[in-house]
Amino acid sequence: MTVFDVAVWKDGRVRMLDQRRLPSDEIYHDYVSAAEVAQAIRDMVVRGAPAIGCAAAFGVAVEAFRLAREGLPASWSLAMDPAMRQLRAARPTAVNLAWALDRMQPLLAGEPAGVPERLLAEAEAIHREDIASCRAMGAAGAAILPIPVGGRPLAIMTHCNAGALATAGYGTALGVIRAARDRFGAVRVYATETRPYLQGARLTAWELLHDGFDVTLMTDSMAGHAMSRGLVDVVVVGADRVAANGDVANKIGTYAHAVLAKRHGIPFLVACPLSTIDLNTPTGAQIPIEERSEEEVTHFSGQRVAPHGVRVFNPAFDVTPAELIAALVTEKGVVHSPDAVGIRGLFRS
Ligand code: MRU
Repeated sequence: MTVFDVAVWKDGRVRMLDQRRLPSDEIYHDYVSAAEVAQAIRDMVVRGAPAIGCAAAFGVAVEAFRLAREGLPASWSLAMDPAMRQLRAARPTAVNLAWALDRMQPLLAGEPAGVPERLLAEAEAIHREDIASCRAMGAAGAAILPIPVGGRPLAIMTHCNAGALATAGYGTALGVIRAARDRFGAVRVYATETRPYLQGARLTAWELLHDGFDVTLMTDSMAGHAMSRGLVDVVVVGADRVAANGDVANKIGTYAHAVLAKRHGIPFLVACPLSTIDLNTPTGAQIPIEERSEEEVTHFSGQRVAPHGVRVFNPAFDVTPAELIAALVTEKGVVHSPDAVGIRGLFRS
């Protein structure tokens, strides 16, 4: 399968595929400072929770090498503080960003010589671990999927993009879908468009077609109809932050799909690495929800489609309560009917 340079270390710089330009253009940018990386995260050059975490970690490393070229600072923690803050503030909902920075932070306090090299090694480790996590999640998720019946391939609906474009590896939700194809020989994927930013249409459809999947695109509002007609066997999505009680923040529209899935008796699965689980956030109500620009809603492909002066509500994420989730799939295994006890258990094994 194809793995893209979503956020990688290349010749002393952070290289990212510009996801804003997909599917028409495959363009890469190289970044040389944390400020540039933070801006790229804010601007959605890179997006998707684990990919943002990897980008931030490489952003810390590239900044340290940049500072080291100006001379060794007396205190790395102090010298790096503005960069760490800038990166942390880039996007608020996906906790992988803060998680990656929290992993990098202690390395700033060690022996000053060699700090940039140690930061880079840690960023590379985060990147490597994410690749392995995707594989483990894929296997764990595929193992619990319903067996296809009626002679047609298993039909899996997914929302947004939780694939190779959102991770260092082959994806979380799309990792499960990839492993499902390995298990069953074939699967049918329904990708929802994901208004307003169109990650489903632009990214998931592109990524899956790239790998030869049977993929059908539909608008978000078609999901209920598709489910009512028996077209969807299971829904698999990713996550940006899972609260300690199992509530899941993911791309706006996820909650509606979960309600619809429950109404139609369709299992609703969430796949994410442990780095997306935030034990310090008790429930979904405390998860910060990013609000994005009005233009994402008032405009379509650069054209205004709503009247001037209308007020706009544009939350980028919503929260799906744990009770609607059949299973949380992680690299450490599956939690069925996730709750606080099941989630804490993942961190013990
Ligand atoms: O705004 P985005 O594109 O960063 O949102 C991405 C999502 O909501 C994904 O579903 C989530 O990050 C999981 S990615 C493996």
